[in-house]
Amino acid sequence: MKTNIINSPKVIQERKRLDKNNVFKEFVLDESYKNLGKDKTYYLYTYGCQGNESDSEKIRGLLEEMSFTITYDLSKADLILMNTCAIRKNAEDKVFGELGRLKQLKRKNPNLIIGLSGCMAQEESVINKLLTKYQNVDFIFGTHNIDSLPKILYNTMSNIERYVDVLSYEGDIVENIPIVRESNIKAWVPIMYGCDEFCTYCIVPYTRGKERSRLKENIIKEVEGLIKEGYKEITLLGQNVNAYGKDFVGFKYDFGDLLNDLSKLGIERIRFTTNNPKDFDDKQIEAIKNSSNIMPSIHLPVQSGSNKVLHKMNRKYTKEEFISLVDKIYKEIPNVSITTDIIVGFPSETEEDFKETLDLFKRCNFEGAYTFIFSKREGTPAYSYIDESITEEVQYDRLYRLNELVNEGYKRGNLRFKDKIVKVLIEGTSKNQPDTLMGYTENNKLVNIKGDSKYIGKIVNVKIVDAKTWSLDGEIIDDQN
Ligand code: SAH
Ligand code: SF4
Ligand code: F3S
Repeated sequence: MKTNIINSPKVIQERKRLDKNNVFKEFVLDESYKNLGKDKTYYLYTYGCQGNESDSEKIRGLLEEMSFTITYDLSKADLILMNTCAIRKNAEDKVFGELGRLKQLKRKNPNLIIGLSGCMAQEESVINKLLTKYQNVDFIFGTHNIDSLPKILYNTMSNIERYVDVLSYEGDIVENIPIVRESNIKAWVPIMYGCDEFCTYCIVPYTRGKERSRLKENIIKEVEGLIKEGYKEITLLGQNVNAYGKDFVGFKYDFGDLLNDLSKLGIERIRFTTNNPKDFDDKQIEAIKNSSNIMPSIHLPVQSGSNKVLHKMNRKYTKEEFISLVDKIYKEIPNVSITTDIIVGFPSETEEDFKETLDLFKRCNFEGAYTFIFSKREGTPAYSYIDESITEEVQYDRLYRLNELVNEGYKRGNLRFKDKIVKVLIEGTSKNQPDTLMGYTENNKLVNIKGDSKYIGKIVNVKIVDAKTWSLDGEIIDDQN
């Protein structure tokens, strides 16, 4: 089959930050694409972070606007799309494994169309591998041109040729892309795209391009719409939400301002992720402290407790600076819960360095963490850092020891609420027990509650009767709903 390469990603280009201002655009769907998916179904895989989940909601919006219907049965799909993640090798291995499995489906149904998008699509090496070894992938687009999906799909379906269109430079900020949201209670609201940090281990600045913030007016309009539709909670998304607005030219408006303005709109709950310690300022702390609808739950990735390792990771803060920020947050925002991300086995990390990470974890009273073994990513500086003293055995041993502490953190965080009355946003029934409701507290603790499904979508007062490591058990105490 012929391959039509419109654009393909180049690492060298992705590393560059062009001095170009943001371009804002409004999405319009070309009339000729509206019936492309009539009587056709799609199956969508989503891997990776909340940013990718949010992108998938746009992909769904676009496909349904083109008259495709979702299916949850892979074997019945006319179109299969994989929205992928490249953060660690195991994330990519999963996708390649699944693509291998799909070869069979394609043999059974030669009309099946398979597409791939997301961060893996932005990798030069992945594109080469897909083009040579995965003939079953029909089209590929990247993180910067989701709005081109209708055109790409149209061309793939009408020309019967493979189609690659992945930009190596940041795309425009496109507003008004249709969205089909997963939940009608909680919504993702991206406020900025990209990342300019270039932590030496991380692929995100290459796959997502430079930092670009959405205009405040568009964010406010989206949140007002969500309130009207009855949404109770929004989560503001960005790889570094604290840097929101730093890219604006000619006017000043930052994350603290945005928090203050959004809080006034009256949505019940506002969350945000991910925070970068470097850009977390006093205005933001004040906003969280003074607004009862901004939740007291902060995810603040530290990555390591050793200054030497932090420096090698290009994290731009010291352990001491991190601790003083955490102390300030605890002092200013009573009742706050802080969680973090940690990487173990980064090249040059000695046993002493690792012990500093353990000590920092205790010192900061984290109530949970996502923990990872360092994974080499092609194209990043740390790809060529070599340290033979860190064997797989050492990596797993450190991860295990860290996780013991992290689990204690989860338990300690949950025990704080035993016998207390907390507000829980009821999201649905528990996966394993259909007669049990589940929801999250303001501090983002999972609670299971025996109760009636009439509470779904409501915020209720709950008395916590038991605290386990991963969840709380509660009883609804007010029945005014
Ligand atoms: N922008 C966010 C993180 C996004 S990636 C931040 O800086 O906080 C989520 C997490 O994945 C990171 O915090 C880091 O802990 C982990 N991670 C990123 N690259 C990794 C790699 N190459 N190997 C292992 N873990 C990695
Ligand atoms: Fe990756 Fe660092 Fe950017 Fe987070 S801040 S996305 S870890 S480069
Ligand atoms: Fe993965 Fe890309 Fe998100 S690499 S974590 S999907 S930004």
